[in-house]
Amino acid sequence: MAINIFNFLVCFSIASFVISSNARRVLDSKNVDGNNGGSNFTHVCDPSRFSDLGLDVSTFGFCDSKLSYDDRAKDLVDRMTLAEKVRQLGNSAKGVPRLGLPKYEWWSEALHGVSNVGPGTYFDDLIPGATSFPTVILTTAAFNESLWKQIGQAVSTEARAMYNLGRAGLTYWSPNVNVVRDPRWGRATETPGEDPYVVGVYASNYVRGLQDVEGTENATDLNSRPLKVSSCCKHYAAYDVDNWLGVDRYHFDARVTEQDMAETFLKPFEMCVKDGDVSSVMCSYNRVNGIPTCADPKLLKETIRGDWDLHGYIVSDCDSLEVMVNGHKWLGDTKEDAAAQALKAGYSMLITLGMDLDCGVYYTNFTQNSVRQGKVKEVEIDRSLKNLYVVLMRLGFFDGNPTFKSLGKKDVCSKQHIELATEAAREGIVLLKNVNETLPLKSKKIKKLAVVGPHANATAAMIGNYAGIPCQFTSPLGAFSSYGEVKYEMGCDGVACANDSLIFPAMKAAKHADATIIFAGLDLSVEAESLDRVDLLLPGYQTQFINQVAQVSKGPVILVIMSAGGVDISFAKQNDNINAILWAGYPGEEGGRAIADVAFGHYNPGGRLPLTWYEAGYVDMLPMTSMKLRPIDSLGYPGRTYKFYNGSTVYPFGYGLSYTQFNYTLRSARKSLDIKLRKSQHCRDIEYKDNEYKPPCPSVLIDDLECNHEFGFGIEVKNVGKKDGSEVIIIYSKPPIGIAATHTKQVIGFKRVFVKAGKSETVNFVFNACKSLGVVNYNAYNLLTSGRHTIMLGDDVVSFPIQLNIKE
Ligand SMILES: *[C@@H]1O[C@H](CO)[C@@H](O)[C@H](O)[C@H]1NC(C)=O
Ligand SMILES: *[C@@H]1O[C@H](CO)[C@@H](O)[C@H](O)[C@H]1NC(C)=O
Ligand SMILES: *[C@@H]1O[C@H](CO)[C@@H](O)[C@H](O)[C@H]1NC(C)=O
Ligand SMILES: *[C@@H]1O[C@H](CO)[C@@H](O)[C@H](O)[C@H]1NC(C)=O
Ligand SMILES: *[C@@H]1O[C@H](CO)[C@@H](O)[C@H](O)[C@H]1NC(C)=O
Ligand SMILES: *[C@@H]1O[C@H](CO)[C@@H](O)[C@H](O)[C@H]1NC(C)=O
Ligand SMILES: *[C@@H]1O[C@H](CO)[C@@H](O)[C@H](O)[C@H]1NC(C)=O
Ligand SMILES: *[C@@H]1O[C@H](CO)[C@@H](O)[C@H](O)[C@H]1NC(C)=O
Ligand SMILES: *[C@@H]1O[C@H](CO)[C@@H](O)[C@H](O)[C@H]1NC(C)=O
Repeated sequence: MAINIFNFLVCFSIASFVISSNARRVLDSKNVDGNNGGSNFTHVCDPSRFSDLGLDVSTFGFCDSKLSYDDRAKDLVDRMTLAEKVRQLGNSAKGVPRLGLPKYEWWSEALHGVSNVGPGTYFDDLIPGATSFPTVILTTAAFNESLWKQIGQAVSTEARAMYNLGRAGLTYWSPNVNVVRDPRWGRATETPGEDPYVVGVYASNYVRGLQDVEGTENATDLNSRPLKVSSCCKHYAAYDVDNWLGVDRYHFDARVTEQDMAETFLKPFEMCVKDGDVSSVMCSYNRVNGIPTCADPKLLKETIRGDWDLHGYIVSDCDSLEVMVNGHKWLGDTKEDAAAQALKAGYSMLITLGMDLDCGVYYTNFTQNSVRQGKVKEVEIDRSLKNLYVVLMRLGFFDGNPTFKSLGKKDVCSKQHIELATEAAREGIVLLKNVNETLPLKSKKIKKLAVVGPHANATAAMIGNYAGIPCQFTSPLGAFSSYGEVKYEMGCDGVACANDSLIFPAMKAAKHADATIIFAGLDLSVEAESLDRVDLLLPGYQTQFINQVAQVSKGPVILVIMSAGGVDISFAKQNDNINAILWAGYPGEEGGRAIADVAFGHYNPGGRLPLTWYEAGYVDMLPMTSMKLRPIDSLGYPGRTYKFYNGSTVYPFGYGLSYTQFNYTLRSARKSLDIKLRKSQHCRDIEYKDNEYKPPCPSVLIDDLECNHEFGFGIEVKNVGKKDGSEVIIIYSKPPIGIAATHTKQVIGFKRVFVKAGKSETVNFVFNACKSLGVVNYNAYNLLTSGRHTIMLGDDVVSFPIQLNIKE
């Protein structure tokens, strides 16, 4: 300890530059505010800033653009004292005035538009709002990669513009890429659904939209690749219980098998890091198999940095470290004050484990003592700080970024962005039922409309959580009003619908209207962060309200459901008085317009459900806290997600209708692949339910292969109906028959394609055998299995076998 203190003192005296009190005053008042203080700060190494501060920029290596970012970050960190270093380790980094290093607020959010949830971003008279896109679950339903990326680009343009005006940061802790394992999860709205591959593809596209600077995507040195803004994939890992019947995320220990970890929970993060080249990952609140994720060297250092080679920093979820002490009581009892102090100090060991930045104050408050007590090497802090500063350098925080300099007020809430938000909602909306072509409504025949239900005049409900202040709202009521004379009735006192007294006026409206549109569903009072659902039904009197209105309606009845998770609406599916059903997720600031465009046929819906809609009884069969995805026969648990659940559903994953029909014709499919093993590659046994089916060489370890085996095919999609429209082709692979405990099918690719009525388009697909035909075994080996795999298009519209022959 004495030696540590000695080092500390030496370090301090070497580093103590003398700066005049005048310069310090200037620093405190202006130049240390940094980006998100509303000041006119442009970039750290702006020479005029330094001259204002009485410093000579040319003497600071970290401002020398001839040096590499690594060297510059090292120079900066080497100049700091230990006390100064620890002040930079929290989300509100304090800066180092004597070095001209300003404060920086790391916490901003941009899940589906620039949000003011984090302290790094705010709205005021100058920038009163930003474009609020649909929530992620609806945007995912579009199954359109270029849409996902384009939204990321629009959001980062607005973020960068707001940064230029001192209203926002450069580091955004979005997207949320946790797989929706259970339909009760309150945060489904934030996510891209239940399929790990789809979630991963969404993640890498959105991240690239936020981060990539055109023309530099494939830079050879990924550690110095420029960033438009920095994105963060969260919450790592196996995080999907918020608060279910008293079990909350701050205490929950997710018991997860290595198989499910590799196959489901880590997969989107791996794709986010490797395919998206994201510059940050956030660890979660929960424990995994007993260890808080932010304190797990295997999950952080070994996997994210080691196996996946992250170019960026790892941050904790906010106050995760406090959660470890007070929630998980990690590493012992904290009742004793003394023990608590020691423990708290011990948390700086997390730096050693790979967590670079603490959203909170634990690192800043306790790390200095940790070093003095010999609990963490100072070099680990240096390494974390370097990870942080390299990201800021890539963002232009030190040197400025001429590419984005001209972005300003005109780029936030621009016409194009508002249009893109509307387009995203239109593309995502899913047509679930359409008897006798009720939709689209024929506007000429419809003069009077009844627009009823708790969401009929939805505004804030349409933008969900992690929203900002939107540019404007177009509610359903507002949008439908431009199509005829509208009678509006709420029918319910809110989504809770605890009172049936408002049903009658809604029935009266429906009785006299040429068409009735019912807006029902959920909102953040039912499904939200820190709030999981207890059932899959519509709340309160909503079901009764819908049935009663439908029964007396004069014209056709259209039911529009706003929700993130699936709702058991079997009653509506079966009710002949309800002619059509649309799912509109939470459709963003222009949601009403998008729904009206679909209802009146200005847009032909093509969205597909990114989640299985289970029947209500499903949740009575298994607790939300059982993490396993495969069925557990001994406990009577059904499987989870379309990959492992084979029971009946209200609507399956991938479901969605159109106003037209499409026919598929398969072109030039390759039907077999031969793999000859070398001496160092071995056949691996795998378990078969029935050994009769087991081939002589059942499988080979994917890590042992070069994985250059590809197969491909073309699909001609013909629009055989009368309306132009977009079709989502979803491609699944099914493993050979007989393999024990594997998925029934898995998505390996998808493509949304627009086809004019009477015309056809051919889409070509190429797949890598290792990525598309592999299985993860119970022991977490990733294996390529020989035998007859099946490739299936959509809901088994077309399927064909592909024979994989592995020979020693
Ligand atoms: C920023 O610059 C503008 C225009 O040059 C000026 O009006 C404003 O007062 C400056 N703000 C601060 C915080 O220095
Ligand atoms: C970067 O590489 C990807 C994948 O190889 C390619 O599709 C893309 O066009 C490349 N971008 C540039 C700017 O070279
Ligand atoms: C951290 O330090 C600040 C400033 O000294 C203090 O206000 C705060 O209470 C401390 N928080 C904790 C959790 O120790
Ligand atoms: C619809 O909602 C908006 C925004 O909350 C509100 O201003 C308006 O009065 C509502 N319209 C009706 C008819 O209740
Ligand atoms: C239902 O609403 C009516 C009208 O607003 C009110 O008179 C009644 O007390 C409410 N009933 C309940 C159970 O809240
Ligand atoms: C659909 O149309 C057919 C033929 O007009 C009719 O017999 C049938 O009852 C209709 N179905 C519903 C549910 O309205
Ligand atoms: C579906 O699950 C049941 C119960 O676990 C099982 O008996 C049946 O074989 C499964 N069917 C398929 C097609 O996997
Ligand atoms: C579409 O495909 C189905 C099934 O293959 C076939 O019965 C039908 O005739 C086709 N329709 C058109 C218009 O090609
Ligand atoms: C996919 O999204 C892009 C970007 O919004 C859009 O231009 C395109 O039309 C969409 N594709 C289809 C087939 O809907």
